[in-house]
Amino acid sequence: MAIEVRKLGGPMLAEVVGANTTRPLSKENRAIVNQALLDHCVLVFRNQMLEPQQILDLSDAFGPVEPHITVKYRHPDYPDLIVMTNMDENGEISAHETARGVGWHTDMCYMPLPAKATLLHTIEIPEKGGDTIFANMYMAVDEMPAALREKIEGLRATFRYGGRATDRNMRLEKEDEDKPLQDHPIIKRHRESGRVSLFVNPTHTVGIVGWEDDMAQELLTEVYRWGDQERFQARHEWRLGDTVIWDNRCCWHSATGENPLRQPRRFYRATIADRPHKSA
Ligand SMILES: [Fe+2]
Repeated sequence: MAIEVRKLGGPMLAEVVGANTTRPLSKENRAIVNQALLDHCVLVFRNQMLEPQQILDLSDAFGPVEPHITVKYRHPDYPDLIVMTNMDENGEISAHETARGVGWHTDMCYMPLPAKATLLHTIEIPEKGGDTIFANMYMAVDEMPAALREKIEGLRATFRYGGRATDRNMRLEKEDEDKPLQDHPIIKRHRESGRVSLFVNPTHTVGIVGWEDDMAQELLTEVYRWGDQERFQARHEWRLGDTVIWDNRCCWHSATGENPLRQPRRFYRATIADRPHKSA
């Protein structure tokens, strides 16, 4: 069966139909799904429960998988995967873990080389709630008023894990705490599509290079307000057997953290580096 990519409407998000993700994809199909990611920013593959190695094989279709910096969450047997759950060590639903990932951000934007993409596979999900929302940051730049765009054109912003939050380092290993800030352009060019998108986000961005903090926060607040508009957004309602991958270079994402029935939620997650495979 040939792979079909079905746009799910709205500003982004498409479903990939007909890909057997239980086996490594062919070279042709790898190219098709990677192009689909570039075209739609977020892809969903449905109805296939995957084992850790199958998740890594699918992730590899998009680029080299790299471990996340939060060592504590690594899968014990597959350190390139992290386990995301709303439960604490005792198997109780944890308010702290439930709040994880809530708030607009991109993954690994605080690294020298921010992540290309993040892939999440469902292991266990609540019957209700727990949606993930996405916002198209190409559109945020394309439709930005000229006056605002002129203000941010050419500027660089600083990033660190957790941004300005005082407990930002609580999930990091000791040696990763208080690393120097990373900086990236506020409007950043995408390595593969060549398009520009809005790269700052309210969770991990700290300030603007060379700017007084008050001025920087005022401008960043204006930029976030612009980026946070419903017309740029798409919502994914999870079903068991879903695998979702998003392009961190051109979209924000946020967990909604809703779990009205207080049920367990568990995902495996892979992070894909923004560089070609070595053999490519
Ligand atoms: Fe995230």
